[in-house]
Amino acid sequence: MSSGEQFVPDLRQEKERLVVVEHALGEGGLIDNHLRWKDRGVTPSAELNDRQYGYFPQRFDTCQDAPRADQRPSREPVDFQYLATEVLGEPYDADYRHLVERIIAVDSGWYDYLLENGVLNSRQARAMRDAGDRAYRLDAQTEDNLPAYTSTILGGFVALATRHGLGIPATEEWARGIWTAEEDGHKLSMNEYGKITGITATPLHTAGRTSQLRSGMEIKNRHTIQLYAYVDWQEQSARLAHDRNADLFGPVGYALQERIGQDESRHHYLYHAIIRALYDHADGCFRDDVIQTLRSVLMEPAMPGSKGIPNYDITSAKIHNSGIFGLEHVHQAARMILKKLNLLDEDATPAGLSDAAHAALGELRAKYGPELPEIRRRHGRFVLGQTVTGRQLAAARRDYAERIGLPARAS
Ligand SMILES: [Fe+2]
Ligand SMILES: [Fe+2]
Repeated sequence: MSSGEQFVPDLRQEKERLVVVEHALGEGGLIDNHLRWKDRGVTPSAELNDRQYGYFPQRFDTCQDAPRADQRPSREPVDFQYLATEVLGEPYDADYRHLVERIIAVDSGWYDYLLENGVLNSRQARAMRDAGDRAYRLDAQTEDNLPAYTSTILGGFVALATRHGLGIPATEEWARGIWTAEEDGHKLSMNEYGKITGITATPLHTAGRTSQLRSGMEIKNRHTIQLYAYVDWQEQSARLAHDRNADLFGPVGYALQERIGQDESRHHYLYHAIIRALYDHADGCFRDDVIQTLRSVLMEPAMPGSKGIPNYDITSAKIHNSGIFGLEHVHQAARMILKKLNLLDEDATPAGLSDAAHAALGELRAKYGPELPEIRRRHGRFVLGQTVTGRQLAAARRDYAERIGLPARAS
């Protein structure tokens, strides 16, 4: 199979695969797990950093902690006004104009603080702000993939199930009632903060949103494993992009992107657990198909937004150069998926694979076995981790929040 050619398994087995997914999501399964994690504000990647991709968290029921009485039930999507009032210590019904003024003062004051305290010089501070804003605009636009995702993924599953005379209530509940609602919260809240701070207040950004909505993401909707393998990788990449950009922002922008990153992390966990369920099903009867599909999806993963966002290539190259999100993060997200399935270990090759699956595994190992070297260290530019580390920025943000009297956040 040449690279770029899509693997398609025996489609007569789609019904069985849809049943595996329904079972994994349904009663007492992954949806319940997701909602309980949300209620407790737990994220499967809370302890995960960029170097620990082998980590595979336990299901919620094996790692419960005590519920916090003061915690707002978090089943609703991210609500920007709630989040901002929580960070700033304002009442939820605070006058909105007052809230906007506070958000602007606190988050632009953060850059002044970094300068005045010698964390960054003026050139570095400017570069960091430009890089963070640029990545923010692109991340906000990728959230505009939502209608395309919902129609392709949810519509695709419903169409597949209908063709096989199958009801898929758990898949519908997840895709329509939870996942779509949460992604909609990302889109709305990122656009609200973007407008307030002026980051997204440009005609080009607005036009880009329309362009992205119009073209949507091209998801190759051929079969169940392919859809779940793509979102498995895509959610992990989104989580990395939001988390890393959050580090560059003042308290409100940080909290917003961090919270969205937590959602993406829980989405990734759920989708990966589905891939795992398919991989393990009936003594590995779909193992061959999963491996060949992972090769199709991961050898050249399609970035969300690459089709519709204007100047996508040049913008993503700049974001790569700034060190916020680049090739190594795309690589690490794919590598982590393979590591979790223990597919990178040459000594643990599953028995009974076809020649085609062996070949696919060989390609995946050749590409993702090695970690990428540090390829982005460019002298004289702002690079997160070189000029200033994420940890230094986190300490500075805590100090800044304390100095201006922000409440310690509940998270
Ligand atoms: Fe999202
Ligand atoms: Fe997501």
